[in-house]
Amino acid sequence: MKRYLVGNLKMNPVSFEQAEGYLKAFGKEMSGKDLKGTETIVAPPSVYLERFGRSLPVGVSLAAQDVFWEEEGSYTGQVSPCMLRDLRVGFVLVGHSERRLYAHETDAEVGWKVRASLKEDLRPILCVGETAEDREQGGVVAAVSGQVTEAFRDVSSAEAEKVIIAYEPRWAIGTDRTPETDEILEARAVIRQAISVLYGPETADRIPILYGGSVKVPLLEKVCFAPSMDGVLVGRESLQPHELAMMSEIIDAYRPDAQK
Ligand code: PGA
Repeated sequence: MKRYLVGNLKMNPVSFEQAEGYLKAFGKEMSGKDLKGTETIVAPPSVYLERFGRSLPVGVSLAAQDVFWEEEGSYTGQVSPCMLRDLRVGFVLVGHSERRLYAHETDAEVGWKVRASLKEDLRPILCVGETAEDREQGGVVAAVSGQVTEAFRDVSSAEAEKVIIAYEPRWAIGTDRTPETDEILEARAVIRQAISVLYGPETADRIPILYGGSVKVPLLEKVCFAPSMDGVLVGRESLQPHELAMMSEIIDAYRPDAQK
């Protein structure tokens, strides 16, 4: 399966000038790289989508950080899937933990966003993951499989295959703490099982599952390769164009059989 590297810039950069600087530096870092097996995707704030869409390095795709579930109308402050489509956006983060936390996004709303994105031919990058409390109380399976099941409600199996899932334990985001390889493997199995129940094991095998939360170059073995993830979702570290480009190269070069 193809691998994915998603850079979520969060609420950065903070000026047009900084955005230009980022694009210039990232373009330089990616130049000459021919990464056939890895799709690199960058998610800037919505106000910079148009600018990034014009200048991202060849082969790098554009994602939005959020989307609303309606197409148009009286929804002040929201951005609709068809508006994103028009900006050459191919992917959209849905249900990121910072949206769940600060915008109080519910599992049901996340599901509406997944469906609205698919309708407009945007590929959702669905973020799921347990809180620290869930983990302490032995509630990882219930939290993660519940989020997956709700997000795929009323999604056909053909549509489901367009979704990318990112397992992002909430306590690992922005904290410099990461789960053990075994814990990631376990979460991967929980997600796969939840999809299998809905669509069968073949479809489940075709849906990429990434890891996200405090990812850095030296952690790729632990959080991506060892637990056989299909890529990573990188937050803060993606603000360093050099690090993001290096990750794309390492992920693309990784050959599971050669390492054993
Ligand atoms: P982080 O963020 O890498 O800064 O922990 C991850 C994310 O945005 O999902």
